[in-house]
Amino acid sequence: MKALTVIPKKADSLSLSDIDEPLESDGDVLVETLAVGVCGTDFEIVSGAYGWPPKGKDRLVLGHESLGRVLEVDDGVVRGDGEIKKGDLVVGIVRRPDPVPCHNCAIGEWDFCRNGLYTERGIKEHDGYCSERYRISPNFAVKVDPSLGTLGVLLEPTSVVAKAWEQVMNIGNRAFFGPKKVVVTGAGPIGLLAALLGVQKGLEVHVLDRVSQGIKPDLVAGIGAHYHDNPLRDVLIDGDTNVVLECTGVGELVFDAMEHLAPGGVVCLTGVSSGGRALQVDAGALNRSMVLENEAVVGSVNANRRHYQAAADALAKADPAWLNRLITRKVPLDEYAQAFVKRDDDVKVVIEVSTDVRW
Ligand code: BGC
Repeated sequence: MKALTVIPKKADSLSLSDIDEPLESDGDVLVETLAVGVCGTDFEIVSGAYGWPPKGKDRLVLGHESLGRVLEVDDGVVRGDGEIKKGDLVVGIVRRPDPVPCHNCAIGEWDFCRNGLYTERGIKEHDGYCSERYRISPNFAVKVDPSLGTLGVLLEPTSVVAKAWEQVMNIGNRAFFGPKKVVVTGAGPIGLLAALLGVQKGLEVHVLDRVSQGIKPDLVAGIGAHYHDNPLRDVLIDGDTNVVLECTGVGELVFDAMEHLAPGGVVCLTGVSSGGRALQVDAGALNRSMVLENEAVVGSVNANRRHYQAAADALAKADPAWLNRLITRKVPLDEYAQAFVKRDDDVKVVIEVSTDVRW
């Protein structure tokens, strides 16, 4: 069967390979992949900067934002949230707990793995979902509401922001919190989905990005949020923002957010910076304001099953037409290389793995 593979840490190694059918030992559920989303992490892997092959192999099957249809399952396997049946739409969870396991992995909080021995499908030592078929244990398959259809491919990135929001709320609720104004930096898929969840929480959401034209301002307006293309410090100037969701990984924005946050506020970092850029900051002044104003900065990565469930609920409540607009390009598997050439108006690019995908 066909699969999109790379040799991790080797640039220009992306290719459409012919690989063996999935092994039964990979899990009780055989899934036909319909679509796979492409994100910044995939770009990093393809550029040779990130990613690890499964032990004993040199190639990794790419793809961690998946949507598939169940082809085979023994008499319906039951998970906490229901039975998985032939024909169901499912999304595969990305991370697998470490084998030790650490305290967090032992209780299903693998997104907080403490020893770094976790694996991630399509990223770290575990083949991903960008193959025509894959097998999975029902414990790591999440059912997608049929009404969402192919838009279920947005579930994984939404799970990442569902976790980020959970962090923000948990930390904010140390004392009276009641956030009103939220700033999201970056109008890529993660920023826009973070904004969607903010709007669903009834908050006043401001989204900041560099571009002043194109689809991003429209998408932001489409959920009733406010779009800005001016510097973050100007947007935060009123001093009344107590949540910043940083979704770019740009160092300057991180420090601007910390500097201008309202007392008791939370900055949540979700963007992974590439490193290698030094900034000059007044560390003393920053320390002083963070201490005197009880501010918190938290990093957030990955998602556990609870976050996938929260994401599924959020997507079910969202306007499907808006979610559809977020997917700006659909690329057939055979033309995979196109998915890795950035275009100005790209938000979410999706690879159609099956020819039978209906939007
Ligand atoms: C994925 C996460 C993963 C992270 C780090 C992100 O793109 O969505 O599931 O944990 O990369 O590898």
